[in-house]
Amino acid sequence: MQIFIDSADVKELKALAETGLVDGVTTNPSLIAKSGGDFFETLRAICDAVSGPVSAEVVAQDAETMIAEGKKLRGVAPNIVVKLPLTPEGLLACKALTDEGHPTNVTLCFSAVQALLAAKAGATFISPFLGRLDDGGQDGMQLIREIRAIYDNYGYETNILAASIRTGAHVRDAALAGADCATIPPAVFRALYKHNLTDAGLAAFLKDWKATGQSIL
Ligand code: E4P
Repeated sequence: MQIFIDSADVKELKALAETGLVDGVTTNPSLIAKSGGDFFETLRAICDAVSGPVSAEVVAQDAETMIAEGKKLRGVAPNIVVKLPLTPEGLLACKALTDEGHPTNVTLCFSAVQALLAAKAGATFISPFLGRLDDGGQDGMQLIREIRAIYDNYGYETNILAASIRTGAHVRDAALAGADCATIPPAVFRALYKHNLTDAGLAAFLKDWKATGQSIL
């Protein structure tokens, strides 16, 4: 499964890219606002830091303006993916941009039939929002399973990008459900390394090794 980082914090993204485990980045207007920086400067810096796909979201409501915004965003760097909302206008823009060869990420997906429409519109990525469904008392992971089954039934090549991830369990279950990618907040990504038995086991090994008085180098 590909790991994307869900953030527009350039310093954080640079640090995480150094792990060698980051395949891409997703941003949204809220994350850009939180970063406090200029939109285009921030996108350029992110694209310099990460070689994989970097999703940048349009803010227009109508397809024609979304297409114009998408093309401008694509001009920032070759790895920009145009992020579009799952609305009728967003899917019109998705189809038009896809037909012209631009990669797209259809966002704010909360149902399997929405994901079916996005695949028919040629989306490169579909972003089902797990955490927000869970927040509302629904089962976000069931949505991933349903989309996986539908895409496999018909051979749609749209990549399932599990989004709105809150926990390591979300990452695990999205991988088990067959999501192609997960976009993960930095703090959740860092927590994926951690297990108390790893820490305790390492401490015991090092203590025993020290008692031997030997060295490897
Ligand atoms: C996805 O692309 C979105 O940026 C993101 O995952 C939304 O997550 P949130 O529900 O934590 O805001």
